[in-house]
Amino acid sequence: MMKRYHSFLFTTFICFLLPAVASVSAQPLAPINTEGQTFVEALMRRMTLHEKLGQLNLQVAGDITTGQAQGTHIGGAIARGDIGGVFNIKGADKIRALQDIAVRQSRLGIPLLVGMDVIHGYETVFPIPLALSCSWDLDAAEEVARISAHEASADGIAWTFSPMVDVALDARWGRISEGSGEDPLLAGLFGAAMVRGYQGSDMADADRLMSCVKHFALYGAVESGRDYNTVDMSHVRMFNQYFPPYRCAIDAGAGSVMTSFNLVDGIPATANKWLVCNVLRHAWGYDGLVVTDYASISEILNHGTAESLREASMQALTATTDMDMCAQGFLHLDNETLTSDELKLVDEACRRVLEAKWRLGLFRDPYARLDEHRRERDIASSEHRDAARRIAAETFVLLKNDAVLPLKKSARIALIGPLADNRVNMDGTWAVASCPERNMTLLEAMQETVAGRGEVRYAQGCNLISDSTLQAASEFGKTIARGNEQALHDEALAVALDADVIVCAMGECADMSGESSSRSDLLLPDAQRHLLQKLVQLGKPVVLLNFAGRPTVLTWEQEHVDAIMNVWFGGTEAAPAICDVLFGDRAPQGRLTVSMPRATGQEPLYYNHLRTGRPAGREWHKYQSNYLDTSVEPLYPFGYGLTYTTFSYSPITLSTNEISMSDSITVSVNVTNTGLREGCEVVQLYICDRVARVARPVKELKDFERISLQPGETRTVRFTLCADKFQYFDGEGNICIDPGLFDIMVGPNSRDVQTAIFNLVGTNTVF
Ligand code: NOJ
Repeated sequence: MMKRYHSFLFTTFICFLLPAVASVSAQPLAPINTEGQTFVEALMRRMTLHEKLGQLNLQVAGDITTGQAQGTHIGGAIARGDIGGVFNIKGADKIRALQDIAVRQSRLGIPLLVGMDVIHGYETVFPIPLALSCSWDLDAAEEVARISAHEASADGIAWTFSPMVDVALDARWGRISEGSGEDPLLAGLFGAAMVRGYQGSDMADADRLMSCVKHFALYGAVESGRDYNTVDMSHVRMFNQYFPPYRCAIDAGAGSVMTSFNLVDGIPATANKWLVCNVLRHAWGYDGLVVTDYASISEILNHGTAESLREASMQALTATTDMDMCAQGFLHLDNETLTSDELKLVDEACRRVLEAKWRLGLFRDPYARLDEHRRERDIASSEHRDAARRIAAETFVLLKNDAVLPLKKSARIALIGPLADNRVNMDGTWAVASCPERNMTLLEAMQETVAGRGEVRYAQGCNLISDSTLQAASEFGKTIARGNEQALHDEALAVALDADVIVCAMGECADMSGESSSRSDLLLPDAQRHLLQKLVQLGKPVVLLNFAGRPTVLTWEQEHVDAIMNVWFGGTEAAPAICDVLFGDRAPQGRLTVSMPRATGQEPLYYNHLRTGRPAGREWHKYQSNYLDTSVEPLYPFGYGLTYTTFSYSPITLSTNEISMSDSITVSVNVTNTGLREGCEVVQLYICDRVARVARPVKELKDFERISLQPGETRTVRFTLCADKFQYFDGEGNICIDPGLFDIMVGPNSRDVQTAIFNLVGTNTVF
């Protein structure tokens, strides 16, 4: 009885809070129409158990040759009805060959679902998601997804495994690059924007994709930042910090959700009935397709929570996970005797797969995304490349500038570093469909920018990393030349001596972040650090362009280098976009969505942490929560970023000092551009609930506004907060709101805020 009561509460009220976390207009996935339902029911009546299980089977297509698809292993399996979908195959001709087999040769002619990891662009590659989030520009995120869908669908793809909305607090985790950073509000808003961009108003349209919100759930919390490691988390943290982004993206109408590799409360997410069935399906009302991550069903055996593939598969089906990526666990269930309850689970899963195909319009026309005229017109068009350049320029975060930037186009520039003359690394991780040969190198773009006025001379300067084995593992096929370290240094120092300014293109190569790319040390790679130290000793102005898929420890660099700009991995147009900002045709606009640490040992490091009984003070004191050897503060806080102008903030004005639970409060601040050129500012609003029944974070982002101001211009920025912004979850999943004092903080980043206080009047409420 107790249990049922709890789940009722949970189910009812979890639905209330989460939309309040994000203000995006939500359009959850609607049931398919009656015609679709009748069609799917009729189809399922004709299907054998084997054919139903086949629909639940998602396979990597491998690189087939068109015309020979028939003779391949995958072709044969599709013809037998063993496969419901394939993924990560590029080329409309190849996809057409496989679709032909499904439609013309399998007994029931059910079309294939064709997916791909279209994570940050297709052939036109946009900045990695972490970079994109640093734009704080939700329209840009939606545009990236829309263009990605346009291009991928022109090449036969119908489904993308994106967005990833896993909150990531530990920069050692390589996949921090694939998400939107450490804040749940931002991660949800970016996820929702991408869902809208991929799917449009109707994902059946031939230029749209079905999105897949991943990785459900908590994958970003792998212990020690080590990929595929275990996760163990309190429910308070789960409900308040990790679940909201999934919910927000799902409420934006995502057609599918991918389960994560990790444990949730000791049970693998893929087989976790509480997570998938109770939370996702019942509490959040989600009836879309749930797919596993790669081989997650067979990995249940490694987790030690099932003894056989059959048992693992049944656990996943019972959890209402529908589609099995690569483990082939479901497929082989037809060799077993299934109970009527088990058969019902198979039916439900099969229905959801077929409904996804219906939603995508595949039954109406399996070839709609295989129009051969589209490739030429729709992929890598100049319009898409222009968007990529514009958006990439929005993502760079200027961390320091001692009056060196923007550079003069007439300058004599030494461009140094292993990433300066490299095109394949510009795309960053997970750019499956990219054509890196089309990317410009930074050297080419800089030479083009200064042509006829200045001069750019280049030297590689050093290896990526001094250890060649580590370099090879980090490159993952995107090779960076290696040479004799001394000779490389000598050449670089000679080039630098002759220059007005030294620009260093350094940092991580593309695959030092992303999947299976965890690092225990977040400094610039050793060989590059050593060279940078030598270059600084020349006494010339030094600019560091930091290529990164995660926060880097730049403590030494902050002290010694004149200007630092994080350029992440900007995609196809990264090089010209860097030049746009470097030479001042555009101003930097990015603001960090991750805290940048002073030392790797500070990780996990994030601004919205809970309070402790012994908070660290400014000075070191024994028996306080601090480090002997470094500060507890980040080097650059969440929300931080400079530009080529400056802004001042007036004191905060509150519309009232007291509100009731049904009121709202308006917070206003005047922001003035106090510099000499136009600039973009991201005005950020945080709150802190001073006293609550469950400890609340020191700060939580609740709203923000991007504004652009001319020199001398002042704008009043107003935020209206309703009482729902002050709610939180307790560990049971109940929504709580506690009266009392709240701090309202407004500023250009999470550190440099001014604070006003108001009183929320009422009684402790649990919904
Ligand atoms: C494994 C990754 O975790 C996931 O994000 C990706 O979508 C799948 N592989 C498919 O490539």
